Amino acid sequence: MLRNSSTTYGLITVLLHWSMALLIIGQFAMGLWMVTLDYYDAWYHGAPDLHKSLGLLVAFLWLIRVVWRCLERQPEAEANYTYWEHRLALAMHWLFYVLIVLISVAGYLISTAEDAGVSFFGVFEVPAMFIAFEQQADIAGWIHWALAWLIIICAFLHTLAALRHHFYNRDRTLLKMLGRKG
Ligand code: HEM
Repeated sequence: MLRNSSTTYGLITVLLHWSMALLIIGQFAMGLWMVTLDYYDAWYHGAPDLHKSLGLLVAFLWLIRVVWRCLERQPEAEANYTYWEHRLALAMHWLFYVLIVLISVAGYLISTAEDAGVSFFGVFEVPAMFIAFEQQADIAGWIHWALAWLIIICAFLHTLAALRHHFYNRDRTLLKMLGRKG
């Protein structure tokens, strides 16, 4: 039940997948919203603080998820997948992992550019460890923004593919990620 089997994803993979999907989409929306706030808005400081804490949560979950993914078997692909479709789906999954870590690192570099640490809901702080390059906040900010758009475009395509498999091909691709047994 907790672990993946040859026919379906287990509860741990399912919870990691859907909690991170929600967090990433929520973080994207919050990022777009918070840059429109003016100084007198009640959320002017609160929204970036929340965005940073949730960003740290994404980074922690990413670590757990990559380890879990490497340890666990993957359910077998549906029989109707073509060779290239299967390769493409796998490439997209690994691209997500790469994008998540790059977005997290860029976010960390923006936050720590002025030598301030990043607080995790006020519980503890990840310290600023180094200044990596000149104009760090601007350059990391641009990279963070561009990669955030890229991951959302990829998530949109990934969702379309999942829905196509569910409603058009009528296979078990989506049911597997809902933890349903064969
Ligand atoms: C930002 C949002 C999302 C990210 C980053 C993401 C990422 C991933 C990753 C990395 C996998 C590979 C399995 C794993 O390693 O856990 C995966 C599988 C899957 N995702 Fe997502 N996902 C997102 C949103 C969605 C949405 C909205 C849907 C459906 C409506 C969806 C449906 C699926 C399905 C069905 C699989 C299993 C595919 C297979 O076994 O071939 N995902 N996703």
